[in-house]
Amino acid sequence: MRAAVLASGRGSNLQAILDACSKDGLPIEIVGVGSDQPGTVALKRALVAGIPTRVFQLSDYPHRQAQEEDMLIWMRENRVELLLLAGYMKVLGPRFIRQANFPVMNIHPSLLPAFAGLHAQRQALEYGVKVSGCTVHLVDEGLDSGPIILQEAVPVLAGDTEESLAQRILEVEHRLYPEAIRRLVLGKVERTGRRVQILQQEVI
Ligand code: GRF
Repeated sequence: MRAAVLASGRGSNLQAILDACSKDGLPIEIVGVGSDQPGTVALKRALVAGIPTRVFQLSDYPHRQAQEEDMLIWMRENRVELLLLAGYMKVLGPRFIRQANFPVMNIHPSLLPAFAGLHAQRQALEYGVKVSGCTVHLVDEGLDSGPIILQEAVPVLAGDTEESLAQRILEVEHRLYPEAIRRLVLGKVERTGRRVQILQQEVI
């Protein structure tokens, strides 16, 4: 399956996906990595992996919709069948989501629907939860509100800072995102409305 990745930052989830492709046989081909931030680490990781990159900087467009239309053209030209958001820090507009004729996945560092949006780890610490985690979900027109594919809990420890909690969650993210992609691509994900059922792996 031909996949594109959008990332705005350091791209550690992008790296985990690239590694899963090269080392663990994740059956997707990353055909392009796009970013709204020129010169970001995620783009450098893509270049090292020999993957074409493209910058969609908002200031180069009259408005957000024009930027997203350009992204869609790029994805169509590259015959993208799956879009993976990996630390893409903008919410894709409803028009983009309606026009994308492929699934869009995202990873979020909390157990949704708790702590959607920015600074999820800080929100979790301020709320005082004892357990947080991460969620891989399909993207819909809302903010981190699409159907959930996989979630995994991570304990919040006494003395945690935003950084220490983020790091503990990130280690799980790097395993969970490739796993969710694998299941979706292998057709092990069945969706009825909001509810996503993970079909069991066959025992051979
Ligand atoms: C991750 O915590 C991810 O859950 C969130 O943004 C962060 C991106 O980190 N959506 P990285 O750029 O993949 O290192």
